[in-house]
Amino acid sequence: MSSNSLYRLGNSTAVEPLVNKWAAWSHVVSPVPYSLHLLHYQLKLMQSYLDDPSLHADACRNPKLRSGRFVNVPKERADEVMHLMQTTIANQGDNLVFAESITGFHNFLVREAKGQSLDPYYEKAPAVLRGYIELMYDYYNRPTVRFFESLLYQSPYYHKNIQSLRLSLHTHDDERPFVMSTPRLDESDQIDWRVPFESPEVDNLFRLDCAPKPLDYIRELLRLSESDDAALLPLLSADTAPQYERWEGSDVRVRYFGHACALIEWNGVSILTDPYIGVTPSRGGVERLSYSDLPPRIDYVLITHNHHDHFCLESLLRLRHRIGCLVVPRSFGFFYGDISLKVLATKAGFRNVVEVDSLDSIELPGMEIIAVPFMGEHADLPHSKTAYVVRAGAEQILFAADSDCLDQQMYGHIRRLLGPITTVFLGMECVGAPLSWSCGPFFPVKPDPGHEKSRRYKGCDSARAMRLLEEVGANRIYVYAMGMEPWFEHLLGLAYTEDARQIVESNKLIAKAREMGFIEAKRLFGKYDVHLSIQGSKDRVFYESVSEACEQPVAAHASQGSATGAAPALEAKQDLEDHFTFD
Ligand SMILES: [Fe+2]
Ligand SMILES: [Fe+2]
Repeated sequence: MSSNSLYRLGNSTAVEPLVNKWAAWSHVVSPVPYSLHLLHYQLKLMQSYLDDPSLHADACRNPKLRSGRFVNVPKERADEVMHLMQTTIANQGDNLVFAESITGFHNFLVREAKGQSLDPYYEKAPAVLRGYIELMYDYYNRPTVRFFESLLYQSPYYHKNIQSLRLSLHTHDDERPFVMSTPRLDESDQIDWRVPFESPEVDNLFRLDCAPKPLDYIRELLRLSESDDAALLPLLSADTAPQYERWEGSDVRVRYFGHACALIEWNGVSILTDPYIGVTPSRGGVERLSYSDLPPRIDYVLITHNHHDHFCLESLLRLRHRIGCLVVPRSFGFFYGDISLKVLATKAGFRNVVEVDSLDSIELPGMEIIAVPFMGEHADLPHSKTAYVVRAGAEQILFAADSDCLDQQMYGHIRRLLGPITTVFLGMECVGAPLSWSCGPFFPVKPDPGHEKSRRYKGCDSARAMRLLEEVGANRIYVYAMGMEPWFEHLLGLAYTEDARQIVESNKLIAKAREMGFIEAKRLFGKYDVHLSIQGSKDRVFYESVSEACEQPVAAHASQGSATGAAPALEAKQDLEDHFTFD
């Protein structure tokens, strides 16, 4: 390496966003979830660890408890956890009072408000909530508290100064502890760069992936000096990065990057679903695609739902400077946990974020992105979610993520509207985590154990998956989003065995699909390319430049007689409207 060398982030360098030293996911960024999660999860967890560090250390050695509430810190470092807990209580006291007020006031309201006007209760709300809430009933006169999320990002409950990026070198895939349960304590060979996520400096760091820079530039950006080189240099590489090769073929190429992340490329357009990109451990591991395999410009990123394995800030921030438009499911904000990903992403520095509801569509050259309903997965909580159909020419591909086919008739309606969807990417994590796993802090009253057991964050089993496939007219099925790749272990902590229900059920589906003559039926793992040859003409498609499309508001599907504008589809939509119209 000479003084003229240009450096990029090394192939094994991960950059994990943190909030107060905890891995950043939506529930520790958005102010209401963060306050509740801090009070009811992080502080309780740290206290439990401090009460018995050995118990936590033992539990963390059991793979089945990997995603449980156990802090993976050796007992010799318990004083550091104690320090984190004390500074958190001292510095985030506002959030703790806020969280106590939310739970207390919500419980009070449920006891008092039985259908009478809610007007007098604004004055009875704790001072810390005033101006940030609206009170409302459902149609059964059950009251709830709705928050003005955008205002809260400008309040004392949102702290940009505790956000940081942690740069670390990865030797093994499984070395990162589970994201929810273990704070990232300081390590001498890691760099913790205090920077708000929204800062343009974040993009300057990640531009190194495509455009290396001199060492001085990187030191200055990270506010380091030469004395920090012992930590910094192993995180950088002066080698030329592998070159991304643009896909120019006539087929649609769908490139699987692991879990729910797929890159769709066709006709000069690139679309990436639920990005989480693994870095390559220095000691090898499962072969994978990484950041250098992505285009320098990704026209659209599609987010299916707000689970931390689908809306992953680590990859989203790293890719932010490359993303033309971030597409997220519409939230309704009636429940605290129904976080607006649009507001969150905007506050995290994304400039072009589009929120979609079912049948909203985005037209592209020869292609269309259509949001379609996503049932299940949220344990019957009304939190935002959407699946997507990506149409390329006449080929339609469904990215269903963790959808559960609770009623196949919905897919029948979709097929009548859009035509057959021949290629399906579907998650089959059909066991799922219990109700309180990630959303426990939202409940003002602890859920009943029976409810806890029966309501799970789960997707399709083989029977439901088959009903979905038959209803949409699929002839290719790719089971994905199973959390099987080792670089998802710290996000999901899933440790499948061959007899795990998720594996048995997905094997069953694949065997059945093959028996039925599907062109391809496969459970994806690691990396894989799907090639779809395009049937039909592109001529009937409305063309416009992608950059213009990025700026355009989302259109309601078929309202402009656009990309799928074939008469039968429009007629089918009319039929549906007639069916659902009532006097
Ligand atoms: Fe999920
Ligand atoms: Fe998932």
